[in-house]
Amino acid sequence: MNLLGADVFETVAVAVWAMLPAYVPNNFAVLAGGGTPIDGGRTWNGKRILGDGKTWRGTAAGILAGAILALLLNAIRPTAAGALGVALPDPFPAIVVFTLPAGAMLGDMTASFLKRRTGRERGAAFPGIDQLDFVVMSLLLTLLAAPGWTLETFEPPVVVVVLVVTPLLHIVTNVIAYVLGLKNEPW
Ligand code: CTP
Ligand code: MG
Repeated sequence: MNLLGADVFETVAVAVWAMLPAYVPNNFAVLAGGGTPIDGGRTWNGKRILGDGKTWRGTAAGILAGAILALLLNAIRPTAAGALGVALPDPFPAIVVFTLPAGAMLGDMTASFLKRRTGRERGAAFPGIDQLDFVVMSLLLTLLAAPGWTLETFEPPVVVVVLVVTPLLHIVTNVIAYVLGLKNEPW
């Protein structure tokens, strides 16, 4: 691989590594979802605030899964950096272990809130928002909580990769979850 190729590989590796704790919460929420909805069934202007698709159990499971993954990545970081031959980001600070997954769940909830306001029923697609809501909110919350680590980790090329790779990963994992019968819609 030439120098440019190596650079691109490292940028993608850093982007995926740093965002993994924000990628898994949605999938775990799908697996664990059910039970009491966060909005408790309440409506605003005749429409549900969030809808039955955002539950306490799914949200808690998603945040927990993302946080555990972040801790796991911290633990295997030196080994992984050696194996991949790239410089991985500094370990996730404690607050970031929480904000990456919590921000992802908050972004997903914000999208549901907007879907309900625009008359979309539970499960309706909201192209663009569906694919990026969770990364945007995850990054914003993490930036607020740990600006030093965030700015050091998410240099502009890494942000570009995150914005390109995330929708692709999101589409692929959701189609897989749909085919496996875990999700009602492939988005
Ligand atoms: N889920 C959950 N809690 C969350 C997010 C997801 O319990 N915070 C579970 C729900 O069972 C949900 C499923 O995962 O139905 C799929 O998630 P998602 O596609 O985000 O929700 P939708 O049901 O499509 O609802 P919405 O239209 O509000 O996105
Ligand atoms: Mg959905």
